[in-house]
Formats: sequence, C-alpha cells, structure tokens
Amino acid sequence: MRISVIGTGYLGVTHAACMADLGHDVIGIDIDAEKVAALNEGVLPFHEPELPQVLQRALASGRLTFTTSWSQVAQSADVHFLCVGTPQQPNSPAADLSQVNGAIAALAPHLDRPTLVVGKSTVPVGTAQRLTAELQASAPAGSDVHLAWNPEFLREGHAVADTLEPDRLVIGVTARSDEAILREVYDKLLRASVPLIVADLPTAELVKTAANAFLATKISFINAMAELCEATGADVSVLADAIGQDERIGRRFLNAGLGFGGGCLPKDIRAFRARASELGVGDALSFLDDVDAINQRCRTRAVAAALTLCAGSLKDKKAAVLGAAFKPDSDDVRDSPALDVARELQELGAIVTIYDPQANSTAAQRLPSATYADSTQEAVSGAEVVLLLTEWNEFRSLDPLTLKDLVAQPIMIDGRNVLDRQLWADSGWTIHSLGRGTLS
Ligand code: UDX
Repeated sequence: MRISVIGTGYLGVTHAACMADLGHDVIGIDIDAEKVAALNEGVLPFHEPELPQVLQRALASGRLTFTTSWSQVAQSADVHFLCVGTPQQPNSPAADLSQVNGAIAALAPHLDRPTLVVGKSTVPVGTAQRLTAELQASAPAGSDVHLAWNPEFLREGHAVADTLEPDRLVIGVTARSDEAILREVYDKLLRASVPLIVADLPTAELVKTAANAFLATKISFINAMAELCEATGADVSVLADAIGQDERIGRRFLNAGLGFGGGCLPKDIRAFRARASELGVGDALSFLDDVDAINQRCRTRAVAAALTLCAGSLKDKKAAVLGAAFKPDSDDVRDSPALDVARELQELGAIVTIYDPQANSTAAQRLPSATYADSTQEAVSGAEVVLLLTEWNEFRSLDPLTLKDLVAQPIMIDGRNVLDRQLWADSGWTIHSLGRGTLS
C-alpha cells in the first residue's frame, strides 16, 4: 500500500520504518528539513534499540523516503498516518494540539481524491470528530476524505517489537471501507494472530488515554504502598511479589521506586484529567491528581533519604547520580525522575556528577549545571552519596566491593529497587531502597 507518516518523532520514525518493513511504500514528512535529511541518510535523532537496523533496511529497499513536501505526500500516498506530538501546554495540564491542527491544515488542501487519514497521536477524546469536519471542509475531495483513529501503545526501548508484534491493534472507524483499508495495512500482523479491536472514534481515542491512566495508577499504587512500607518497616518488593502472584493483579508495572516519567504517562494523565473536566465529568478522574501527586512524592522521598543519610545536609556534598534517562534503553529525559532528583540535590547545595550510558548529552541540555562523567567509576569517585536512579543493566550488576574503594562514603540510595540489599550491606555499604528502608 502507499502510506504516508506525518511527523518523524519517536512514533513517526518507528511507524514509517516498520510499515516499510512490512512491504508498504512509505513516505515520511516533517517540517524539520535537517531531520529529514538525516533520516534519508539513515541517521536517527534518538536512541532506540533495533530501530537503526530497521530504518536502514527500509531505506535500502527503496520503499522508504522522507520529505518536507506536502504535495509530494498527497500524491504518493492513499493512507496518511498522523504521528505528531501532543505535549503538555506550558501553563496548563491540557494537551497542546497545535502540531495536530497544523498537520491537518497543511495536508487537507492537497487531498483531491478519496483518502484515509489515520490518527495515531494521543489526543483528547472528541478530537477525531472535530478533525473530520475540518478535513472534509478544506479538502478538495470533501467527504471522500475519511478519518480513522488507530492509537499507538509503543514503549520507548521496545518500539520496534511493540509495532511489529503488538499486544493488540485498535482502530476507530466510521465506515466499513476504512476498516478494510486498515486491515490491509496490518494484514501481516493480523495473519500472525494479533487481536484487532474495531471501535468508534471516541472509544478508540479513549482506549489510549485509559490504558496510560491505568498503567500510571498501577505504578502510583505500589509507590503509595512503598510509603506505607517505609512507615511500618515492611518491604514493598516482597509485597509486590506477593500481590502480583494474584493473576487478577499481575506483577508487571508494580516496581516501586522513583515512579514514572517520560513523554507520555505524566502528560497523558494530566491531559485526560483536563479533558474530563471540560466534559463535565472531572470528578470521575479526580483520582488522577493523587496518582500524579504520589508520583511526584517519589522524587521528594529519594532526596529526603539522601539528606537523612548525609546527616541532614547536602551542602557541598559530592553526589553521584547513576542514570538520567526516564527509563533504561532510552536517551529520553523528558520529565525524567532521575534528572529531577539531580536538580533537587543541586538546589540543596550538593555537587552533582551524573553518568548515564546514553542520555548524558540530552541531560546536559536540560541540566547544564551538573557535571557529566563517562563511566560509573568516574561518577562515583570521591562521592559522599551515590543514587541509582535509572535501572540500566550495567547498574544492576555493579560490584559493591570495587565501588566502595572509589567513594568517599559508602552510601547508596537505590531509587529503582534493583540492587541486592544484603550483598551491599555485607560489603560495607549503607543502602536505602525506596519502600524498603535502610540497611547497613
Ligand atoms: C508508556 C506506555 O507504556 C506505552 O504503552 C505508551 O504508548 C507510551 O507510554 P513509555 O513512556 O515508553 O511507554 O514507558 P513505560 O515503559 O511505560 O514506563 C513509563 C515510566 O514508568 C518509566 O519512567 C518507568 O521507569 C516507570 N515504571 C514502569 C515504574 O516506575 N515502575 C514500573 O513498574 C514500570
């Protein structure tokens, strides 16, 4: 099929490369000419395992190109996937839809034959209905231009697998013919028995925000339990293992620690809450304020633990921060809990050195006042407190004995509950794990 992908961020590049990998002819469009030129050379603007190989394979096959020309996109494709960002507005919890609106306004005047536009961006419920009216009003083909919604559930660090082997496909459509087109796009996945859920437009939009709200709530639930555990001497990891054995609950997304960050969960729950208020059902989602507040408290609790273990003052104390990305296998520092903690440590007077295997340069743009090291060893050298804040594999397997020789004071805050506490304590460290207390 002839497909276009509008927007070449995380979602767009992944979708474009994977659709070409499935055998479609794909043209990606972005307003950023430099990014387009780099992508045509096979250069990715972010770190994502497996994606460089898929991108290069797709470019080499001749089935994928990137452009900045709307007329070329309209000529080359019959199905247009809308993959632009919907960040949080600067001074409001609501979503900023300017990229979505801009893309539709730019594309519509070029649509002079029957076309299907498919939204993948995460939008407030009701957006698809509004966009349908706008598209049909300004496209020369009028009501022959249809809109469908096909929410995306990909996780950073697993983007390729989540696109080519998703748990499910969800499509919101207003016509059988649109469903048929999307079935053809995803034919290979459907043949591989990926479940397909066909819905109306508002349901499809809501599926995405509901899924993210549920995941955020699950993480904040276990982090609320972590606060209870700290107050009672209980162990949140054992608690999570025990309740997670119940299949109705499940163990995944019950890892207590610094909580969630990134470009999706935090802004999506805020936008969802804001949209519910606009719709007059704000009370139904008021619990998401608590989910957000619990999540923010995780960061404060990590800083408080560092302060307590450093005898009540971080002034001029050397702090080593391991991890800056919002999660492992990513260089994304948007709303990163790790970087927030590093910033708070600095505000309390600490001298902060950060090491992240991939995110040093993205972090340095957001927090230039910190020092950045090229290895764990360099970061912890002379440190009076070490904080493990993103659970990269190389941190999980750190050797407490080797590290002890490098630090000035063997104090570790395990913000992700990945270290063997007993081993670290037996090796002479004082270790504090969020939701499990201090051991030495
Ligand atoms: C999320 C959704 O999972 C995905 O379906 C959606 O399309 C986009 O948003 P992503 O932001 O890539 O994906 O990250 P995810 O793996 O969901 O992790 C989100 C955050 O939660 C990370 O900061 C992670 O460290 C944290 N987390 C996750 C926990 O604190 N505990 C857990 O048990 C799981």
